[in-house]
Amino acid sequence: MNPIYADMPTSVFEEISILARKTGAINLGQGFPDHAGPLDVRQAAAEAVLNGSNQYPPMMGTDRLRGAVADHCRRFHGLAFEAGDVLVTSGATEALSAALLALIAPGDEVLLIQPMYDAYLPLVRRAGGTAKLVAMGPPAWRLPVDAIAAAIGPRTRLVVLNNPLNPIARVFDEGEIAALAALCVRHDLIAVCDEVWEHVLFDGRRHLPLIAAEGMRERAVKIGSAGKIFSLTGWKVGFVVAVPALLGPIARAHQFLTFTTPPNLQEAVAYGLDKDEAYFREMRLAYQRSRDRLAGRLAAAGYAVLPSEGTYFLCVDLAASGIPLGDRAFCLRAIEEAGVAAIPISAFYGENAPTSVIRLCFAKSDAVLDEAATRLAAFAEKVRN
Ligand SMILES: Cc1ncc(COP(=O)(O)O)c(C=O)c1O
Repeated sequence: MNPIYADMPTSVFEEISILARKTGAINLGQGFPDHAGPLDVRQAAAEAVLNGSNQYPPMMGTDRLRGAVADHCRRFHGLAFEAGDVLVTSGATEALSAALLALIAPGDEVLLIQPMYDAYLPLVRRAGGTAKLVAMGPPAWRLPVDAIAAAIGPRTRLVVLNNPLNPIARVFDEGEIAALAALCVRHDLIAVCDEVWEHVLFDGRRHLPLIAAEGMRERAVKIGSAGKIFSLTGWKVGFVVAVPALLGPIARAHQFLTFTTPPNLQEAVAYGLDKDEAYFREMRLAYQRSRDRLAGRLAAAGYAVLPSEGTYFLCVDLAASGIPLGDRAFCLRAIEEAGVAAIPISAFYGENAPTSVIRLCFAKSDAVLDEAATRLAAFAEKVRN
């Protein structure tokens, strides 16, 4: 048995979700919207199930979706990639798995920036890499460029960047992206860029893909997910964009992970990526309104809400809210006593975790957000006394 998996404890996400189901708590822990998603995109999928092919599509993805991803990169980010530079995967998770398996040689050092999406560390280890962890901290959560530079050694081959960043809802700015790009170029590093949240940005922010920075085209791998672009998280349609020298080995790994992704969902995602600017703008505005609704109500109850620049999440600093509980203790008690599930940010660290910040998902209806905020307000009163 592989000890990476055999010795792995149940994740806090699983623990919280099981508890939330058992207690009937409002689940602001897991990140998924509670609306049905765009009707026309779902109709395109239904139509493709009924009247399109339901047999194995090409290993690299359907021509239509590969073309649509390339067009989308050009339209939104000015990136000059062709359909041939695109690989379709079964979600961003499979894209990350294939990229890390293909690009890490046993013994390579890989830089991971904490807080980090939970899949990164086990995937790096499974690929034979040695993870070098650097950390960001609240409340500013700036990219730790000096710590990254200090962690780079002769065996460092790769860095994983999640931008916009789940869980702390940061969208990295031009200075941070340029500084990381300069380090990658100077030290000949590959960057695996998890950009699943590229469209879920607020307050007029722009997403700056690392692959667009100077010197990065040949050394970056851009990963996206239709699940986040279309609020359809169960669809698990992802994509990788990279130059042939990087995409080739990733495609070989994908070939023996899932080989293909359902053709009807690929059709529907291709349809969706061609939607006009208004869809993307309104989607962002709707989530921004939900963010403001939950943030406003929590702030009124004395919670110190940290800025949320993108994603479906906002964070709350418990210590700054006068709540005398660690993040894990707060989350476990809030499920039982307030009937609201949240996630402790320490779960996104492999070491040196801050323990006073929790993450809440606001991609929910107004009524659900209002009820959750009311319950959390009462719970804050109770634990402060
Ligand atoms: C940062 C990040 N990467 C990857 C994923 C997984 O994407 P997918 O569902 O397409 O596998 C998520 C989902 O929440 C995420 O937040």
